[in-house]
Amino acid sequence: MSGEHLPFSGKVALVTGAAGNIGLATARRLALMGADLALLDLDHAKLEQARADLKGHDVRISIHACDVTDNTQVSQVVDAVVRGMGQIDFLFNNAGYQGAFAPVQDYPEADFARVMQINVCGAFHVLRHVAAHMVTRGFGRIVNTASMAGVQGPPNMAAYGASKFAIIGLTEVAAKDLAPHGIRVNAISPAFMGPGFMWDRQVELQARAGSQYFSTDPTEVARQMIGSIPMRRYGSIDEIPGVVAFLLGEDSSYMTGVNLPISGGI
Ligand SMILES: NC(=O)c1ccc[n+]([C@@H]2O[C@H](COP(=O)([O-])OP(=O)(O)OC[C@H]3O[C@@H](n4cnc5c(N)ncnc54)[C@H](O)[C@@H]3O)[C@@H](O)[C@H]2O)c1
Repeated sequence: MSGEHLPFSGKVALVTGAAGNIGLATARRLALMGADLALLDLDHAKLEQARADLKGHDVRISIHACDVTDNTQVSQVVDAVVRGMGQIDFLFNNAGYQGAFAPVQDYPEADFARVMQINVCGAFHVLRHVAAHMVTRGFGRIVNTASMAGVQGPPNMAAYGASKFAIIGLTEVAAKDLAPHGIRVNAISPAFMGPGFMWDRQVELQARAGSQYFSTDPTEVARQMIGSIPMRRYGSIDEIPGVVAFLLGEDSSYMTGVNLPISGGI
């Protein structure tokens, strides 16, 4: 089916962390809505797999192996996307790494730096290069992936929590800097999402890290985490792409600098 009259027909979306759970699910939603896709992630093989998963959608898809911590690589990829696809209308700035779990006094320094490099510097590199292009066109819609960890500061996650607070700050600043150029910048903050690797890893590592907030038994930790969420269940990855699409689309035309939690908890 031709994508001509779909809501995002004629738009080009750059998605980072596109081979991961949230990135790929969101890429699929944007393709269904007619957007052409530029998929960015760390390695080529994972991106090939992501492209294969998206086969059947009548949109252009390009893949770009890139480490977002490397400003030069990011600049080259953004140039390549603009050359190859003509423009970037939407950015889903989503690549991220959860880091270690340990009380702040024991938190490994090297991991703290790595989390900051990926989650903060990486997101900044992508944002600045894409924004520079969007400014030349006077149009752009950007969604950064923060986290409820950037709203409430969970125990044992010093680096991740700090990095996601930084993303919300970056979103607020960028929204102000870019509003005069017709560019809106918002953030989403997923809470506990599952099932899958991230959920299992969090439950296991919170139990192992030990704190007065969580049990040392992973089954009990899972119960405690779910008990902190008003809806008493974890969110599904499929509950995220619609929120991103809303923020990229014109139903949110008066929203910028906003962080949307999906949902409470932590
Ligand atoms: N899943 C959750 O529970 C949850 C909750 C809140 C926020 N988030 C955030 O959502 C985003 C996506 O997470 P996910 O759940 O899809 O995890 P994921 O691990 O499935 O996906 C993350 C992707 O980012 C990529 N990535 C990591 N470092 C990179 C780098 N240096 N350069 C380029 N790509 C890199 C990875 O290769 C991976 O494909 C992250 O920012 C994460 O912090 C996730």
